[in-house]
Amino acid sequence: MIPVLPPSEENLRFASAELAAGRLVSFPTETVYGLGANALDPAALARIFEAKRRPFFDPLIVHIAERDSLDSICVRRDARAEKLMDRFWPGPLTLVLAKTEAVPDLATSGLPTVAVRMPAHPVALALIRMAGFPVAAPSANPFGRLSPTTAAHVRDQFSEGIALILDGGDCRVGVESTILSLAGETPVLLRSGGIPREQLEALIGPVGLAGANPEKPSAPGQLPGHYAPRTRMRLLRAGAPPAQAVAPGETGLRLGWLGFRGVPAGRFAAVEILSPSGDPREAAARLFACLHRLDAQSLDLILAEPMAEEGLGAAIMDRLRKAAAGSGESP
Ligand code: TXA
Ligand code: MG
Repeated sequence: MIPVLPPSEENLRFASAELAAGRLVSFPTETVYGLGANALDPAALARIFEAKRRPFFDPLIVHIAERDSLDSICVRRDARAEKLMDRFWPGPLTLVLAKTEAVPDLATSGLPTVAVRMPAHPVALALIRMAGFPVAAPSANPFGRLSPTTAAHVRDQFSEGIALILDGGDCRVGVESTILSLAGETPVLLRSGGIPREQLEALIGPVGLAGANPEKPSAPGQLPGHYAPRTRMRLLRAGAPPAQAVAPGETGLRLGWLGFRGVPAGRFAAVEILSPSGDPREAAARLFACLHRLDAQSLDLILAEPMAEEGLGAAIMDRLRKAAAGSGESP
């Protein structure tokens, strides 16, 4: 079993030495747990793809702890980027910028750009500082599966390939970072996440949406099936009663309910409520943990309640839609 260790000074030292030796360390961030490797070491990066069974066309996010580290990995001549970093870093915002030669092709899938972010978690920051190099880290889950928001989620989804897991408790934000590309004239939202689009637009003006092209996703967050539970999951239509979502032939199924605020009338073998008070932040923070729990209940079908797509609701709905698609349900 992969060791799960508290983030003591000694364990952080051990973890940074493992990273320096080219091995993988899972660590907490404010969004989800990451699977980290030395971003400047191609052999270490290759281990990430191997452990996650991640396709090589899917580039990684490079994590830094100081703004000064940026100069070695990306070209900084974008006033919008500086403004966004001033406001949202450290925090759940990833920026896609022109890269330098120092960044291996494996980190960017050969793209001329690199995705960078400064996480707002003391354990992540301490680890990166101690390592002394930028740390590439995707979410610490097998490719396409549910993202991890606790150390146990990571431990339960991997049996090898990771040197250790640093336990930093539950992730506060619970959905991945927002990814914004500043590679072209107009900023483009590649993935909705912990910083709502509205907040970006208030600071830098209109933000375009990436045309969803499943043939050539520029962020696999855009792949239609991602973040998927093993159990089939169906996202209800807004305002539609759950009974309507269940076909006559499905009435005998063991049903699970993933609600935003409450539980409708009906027979459910398991129920999870994201936020009884209707707080989108709480809902985002609990989203993946609720899905992991439902997925462990041997249900036949999970029904998920939709919510308004504003603020964090956009990131939550994106994850629910993709989870449903990835579970084999057609939209
Ligand atoms: O919150 C997060 O961002 C978490 C934590 C661990 O920091 N990380 C995360 O990584 O979600 P991952 O690998 O699951 O998602 C990375 C996304 C991918 O969809 C990838 O395609 C996109 O970032 N990406 C990375 N580099 C890119 C680039 N140069 N251009 C466009 N998209 C890029
Ligand atoms: Mg991921």
